[in-house]
Amino acid sequence: MTTTRVLLLEAAGPESHAIATTAAARGYEVFTVTSRERWDGYDTALRNLLTGHLLTDFSSSDQAAKAVVAYARLIKVSAVLTTNEYLTPLCALAAADLGLPGNDPSLALAARNKAQMAARFAAYYVPAPRTLVLDGGCNVEDQIHAAGLSFPVVVKPSEGAGSGGVTIVDWPKALAGAVLDANGQRSMYGALLDGRVLIQEYANGQEYSVESITQDGRTSHLCLTRKLVSEGSNRVEIGHMLPADEDADSTAIFDAASQAIASVGIRNGATHTEVILTPTGECKVVEVAARIAAGNIGHLIRHATGVDPWAACLDVALGRPMQLQRTSDCFATVRFLSANRSGRLVAIHGLPKVSSEIPFVRVRATAGTRVAPPRSNSDRLGCFAVVGNNASDVERRANDLLADIRIEVEPVAKAGDA
Ligand SMILES: Nc1ncnc2c1ncn2[C@@H]1O[C@H](COP(=O)(O)OP(=O)(O)OP(=O)(O)O)[C@@H](O)[C@H]1O
Ligand SMILES: [Mg+2]
Repeated sequence: MTTTRVLLLEAAGPESHAIATTAAARGYEVFTVTSRERWDGYDTALRNLLTGHLLTDFSSSDQAAKAVVAYARLIKVSAVLTTNEYLTPLCALAAADLGLPGNDPSLALAARNKAQMAARFAAYYVPAPRTLVLDGGCNVEDQIHAAGLSFPVVVKPSEGAGSGGVTIVDWPKALAGAVLDANGQRSMYGALLDGRVLIQEYANGQEYSVESITQDGRTSHLCLTRKLVSEGSNRVEIGHMLPADEDADSTAIFDAASQAIASVGIRNGATHTEVILTPTGECKVVEVAARIAAGNIGHLIRHATGVDPWAACLDVALGRPMQLQRTSDCFATVRFLSANRSGRLVAIHGLPKVSSEIPFVRVRATAGTRVAPPRSNSDRLGCFAVVGNNASDVERRANDLLADIRIEVEPVAKAGDA
């Protein structure tokens, strides 16, 4: 019997870890390609799941593509996949080169770079916020007016992630700071990012995401996720609830997501499409990502519907039929923990205990680390989930548990303080 070998581009992170665990449980050998810096942070449990690894420099995409393909050929992999936002274009290139199921490599950057994505959305009539790509030329306010946009607008980097550098700007005076903020984004691996800044029409409404898997160009939507997002000029996700399919006109949202997915060349793999539904029922697709959702959404899908998204990702990457039948009819929600002031984390008090209704509680910040109110998803300190068979009970329980958690932060003395 031949061994099935899968190559994960970056195995760190909850979603990659879940895929590696699922693959290992199936008896597959799991390999990874990562950077030296990330590898040093792999814990023992993750290292034990892996049969082999290659360290490479992702900051040079040509060199990384050659290294990944050569390694994949050497170890004879049957699948290459990633859950890492920054590595989706590389994954598409490698899969195409190796003749394995993947996405259209010529469009893979459009599923990551929001300037290119806006052009694809426009060409495919995907309902989306109007987008202006700043040209670095004349006054930004003039460019906004010339494009027919008006305040509030959203300023964002072309190739950001985790809501970093995204600002809702209500008036011209705040533009310069927001553009500067959007400009300074770097990739997790130090790669040069597209430095262009986007100005987008502000879409007011409820935010959702559509979790989907595409195989051989046919897309199945697993569910609609309702997003809980913070207020203010720097929006960050503070929780998710699913399935939210009964919430709204999910058919219109699913249709918009299908158009967006097709427009950026998704053929084989998971996608996470973010959509805002306005009070008048219009859908505005904010973005599509060529990977499974982050923020524990995959785990929520598993707990609420019984569908195993990790198994489905593996099957699609291997070119085998995927199983998406729901076997459970529950609801699941996650709440993220964050500091409400800047300082040093002392402790997180009142965390719930894992039980049948609370499938996971995770803390990623350690006492003594510097914390601040969140400006991006990477500022989260931890999270917990609640599952149950009644949507409003699940929401209420999660809110009650969150109210019982106290995050103790001590001030940090400034240099020069007595
Ligand atoms: N055009 C828009 N109209 C209204 N709100 C927006 C718009 N674009 C972005 N936002 C808000 O800012 C958040 C982050 O924006 P966006 O999703 O574009 O950035 P990101 O870096 O890809 O974030 P993430 O990785 O968290 O999805 C969105 O979830 C939404 O709350
Ligand atoms: Mg987003």
